[in-house]
Amino acid sequence: MKILVVGKGGREHALVQALAESPGKPEIFCFPGSDAIFSLARSVPVKNMPALVAWMVEKNIDLCVAGEESYLVKDEGLANLCEAAGIPCWGPHKQSAQLEASKEFAKGFLERHGIPTGKAVVVDTFDQAVEAIGDQYPTVLKFDGLAAGKGVAVCPDESTAHAFLKEVLVQQRFGSGRLLVEECLTGPEVSVFAAIVDDQYLVFPPARDYKRALDGDAGPNTGGMGAVAGGQLIDAGLLEKIKKEIIEPTVRGLNQEGLPYRGFLYFGLILTAEGPKVIEYNCRFGDPECQAVMPLLRGDLATFCQQGATGIMRPELIRFVDGWSVAVILASSGYPEISRNGDEIKGLADVSGARIYHSGTKSHKDGTWVTHGGRVLAVVATAASRQAAAEMAHKQAAKISFTGSQRRSDIGILHF
Ligand code: AMP
Ligand code: GLY
Repeated sequence: MKILVVGKGGREHALVQALAESPGKPEIFCFPGSDAIFSLARSVPVKNMPALVAWMVEKNIDLCVAGEESYLVKDEGLANLCEAAGIPCWGPHKQSAQLEASKEFAKGFLERHGIPTGKAVVVDTFDQAVEAIGDQYPTVLKFDGLAAGKGVAVCPDESTAHAFLKEVLVQQRFGSGRLLVEECLTGPEVSVFAAIVDDQYLVFPPARDYKRALDGDAGPNTGGMGAVAGGQLIDAGLLEKIKKEIIEPTVRGLNQEGLPYRGFLYFGLILTAEGPKVIEYNCRFGDPECQAVMPLLRGDLATFCQQGATGIMRPELIRFVDGWSVAVILASSGYPEISRNGDEIKGLADVSGARIYHSGTKSHKDGTWVTHGGRVLAVVATAASRQAAAEMAHKQAAKISFTGSQRRSDIGILHF
């Protein structure tokens, strides 16, 4: 089987590795890929998506796996282009990926299908936003368009809300677009992933990511400083409730609205006192959650995705081991405000009993690796208990060093 994975980060490194471990020994290509990924997959000599699809046709690619969301909504959409070219794609059509690309679309979808979520009002102007908020603080403000992860603000008071509204609606920092004023929900967050094949689904082990930069969940929001995953993260009763109230109505809703979906769907949930509620959908796996979940997977992910992409759900092809997985991120100096490139990474060869996935690195001809991005590496360990997995991940991560390296010391340990 020939597989093309689209993306370049730590999530794609983990996906490529899991696909490469499939028993049929698939031949894997990656676009745009990274130096670390290219130790497992071959690069593709193209510059844009139409050329990529033409290349897939020429090479008789059996499966395209969308790791990163941007390609799903760019131009005609990766999955749409693949379909037109007759290539099975694991990743949804452009119109379905609006669940992630447009917060207004997602909120409308949730409301149409009676799926629990925070109440929200869509506004166009500063004054409308102020009126919609009233005196309800804290409030959550979400820019509707693409904002590189910076479009959501949880505002404790009027002054932070007004500052964000000015930036987004008056100065139009992210360009023109509408804004959601959303009810602020409280409770632990959990990321639930399902593989969706038309009207069927299979749930993967849930995960939780650590979004803040510093220990104790302090400091600014980041792309994720680590993740913990495992079947025991949520109990069986809660998982049943999430399936019945959230996943199943979502799958039914996609089918009712004629939104084709074959791929991973990520449900960002808050476990409120009233029950689980959706705060976001993402049309892909999470990063760094993927790096934590993939080491728990056994079986044949390549055939599972290839069959799924052709409309056949084959849950018997994969399974998940019991126990826990903890992924600890090493980030570069100054992250998340800035990132530093070119610092030599030492100690990679000393790591044992843990997996390393590269998010932002480059290799030199002499075999050394240097930093190349905000999040640099994930070190992932699995064990029967959360504590043991966390200890192992931190112990191994401590062997890796580079100038200005940042790592939270409570990933997998701080539990909520
Ligand atoms: P997002 O960029 O959509 O992933 O949202 C970023 C973060 O904002 C989430 O991980 C939550 O911590 C927080 N958030 C989003 N929506 C809500 C909400 N309705 N209530 C409370 N926190 C929220
Ligand atoms: N870990 C959050 C995300 O992938 O969006």
